[in-house]
Amino acid sequence: RTDNSTDYYEIIQKEGQVEILPGLRTPIWGYDGIFPGPTITARRGRQVVIRQRNKLSVPVVVHLHGGKTPPESDGYPTDLILPADSNYAATAHEGHATVGGIGYGFKDYTYPNEQPSATLWYHDHRDMFTGAQVYRGLAGFYLIHDAIEDELPLPKGDKDVPLMISDHIFNEDGSFFYPSVDPTLHEEGIEDGYHQGVQGDTILVNGAPFPFLELSNTRYRFRLLNASNRRIYKLALDPPPPERAAFIQIGSDAGLLPAPVPQTELIIAPAERFDVVIDFSHYAIGTQVVLKNLDGNHTTSQVMRFDVVRSQPDDSAIPDRLLPDEEALNPAQAEVTRRVILSRSGKRFRINGKEFAPNRVEFRPCLNSTEIWEVFADIPHPFHMHLAHFQVLSRNNQNPASTDVGWKDTVRVGPREMVRIIARFTPYRGKFIYHCHMLEHEDLGMMDNFEVV
Ligand code: C2O
Ligand code: CU
Ligand code: CU
Repeated sequence: RTDNSTDYYEIIQKEGQVEILPGLRTPIWGYDGIFPGPTITARRGRQVVIRQRNKLSVPVVVHLHGGKTPPESDGYPTDLILPADSNYAATAHEGHATVGGIGYGFKDYTYPNEQPSATLWYHDHRDMFTGAQVYRGLAGFYLIHDAIEDELPLPKGDKDVPLMISDHIFNEDGSFFYPSVDPTLHEEGIEDGYHQGVQGDTILVNGAPFPFLELSNTRYRFRLLNASNRRIYKLALDPPPPERAAFIQIGSDAGLLPAPVPQTELIIAPAERFDVVIDFSHYAIGTQVVLKNLDGNHTTSQVMRFDVVRSQPDDSAIPDRLLPDEEALNPAQAEVTRRVILSRSGKRFRINGKEFAPNRVEFRPCLNSTEIWEVFADIPHPFHMHLAHFQVLSRNNQNPASTDVGWKDTVRVGPREMVRIIARFTPYRGKFIYHCHMLEHEDLGMMDNFEVV
């Protein structure tokens, strides 16, 4: 439904059966019963309201990752949508205060879309169960378009392809294997392989194992999203195009870059997005180009295949400038510098020595202020902030990586690394979270609250 200012959608969260491995049925939990969920497209400045109905047997929470969303609609982890027709027994945190309230059977989420064109995604965010629920299929793309993007001659239509990369473990009957359904059980109840973060041995792209895409010898735009619970990929093309970078990066997590950046390899941590153009005119017709994962082995070293099958004139281009000039945030304007220490403690995970508690607010940035956060990690942790977008200033006091460009909402922090970011706390007041995006780390405590005041 649509009116002058708003597009309305309804999504039903329910179980589905999909064929992922040939001849086998995989039960999933999906938005509208499919995996990935339906892709939502939005226009900058035009509001979207999504009614999420919960027909699953467990509570759910929906978060629009990368969205500038008012706190009531941001998917705070205790803002549960309870199943429509069952009595659900609350677990520990679920008795705590909520931000946007509890939904009984459904909840309406309002997304203002007052932000530049970008590749966002929506996924489950239920307190202590995000890993288990995203793994079962609760994730989908949400694309914001705007007039600036419309004007650019970038590849469009069927040459603009979102690719959701995730990894899973399959049981023999084709069902997903997940080492724990209930991390609140005593330790004995949690199987090995849960605490470190769940890593699959089968990579899926948009829900399919090692798929191929037949394409023409032209430019294509790919919106790469790592929707895996824990795995970090190092993506490259095999064969690489002769004498040039494989990928021309045009966008980061939060939107287009001011200017394109050539990249040979892309290290993509959970929840990060890279918006890239690949120019297949550098390959002969008949070439099969594999998108590889240089950090994988055996079954995880190949992601998908591009088959260059036909020749076609190309009217797309990658302009030298993608955005009108935009200033980098100036560290001299930062009002506060904060430290965030991500560390593992036995089988739990902490931020600044503490586990997530819904009622404890750690930091109170002022509305519209700029802050520097220094994020330290003991082992790799992708650091994500809700609401605030940021730029990367340095890694271990050195220059950031070439892939750290642009506005981001998630940044990979390596082992014993300190990443300094500069963030803008705009445009809403209220309580939001920041956390590690290795979802089991988040579920096991590596999450905290900030309140924009
Ligand atoms: Cu993509 Cu708080 O998460
Ligand atoms: Cu988020
Ligand atoms: Cu982590």
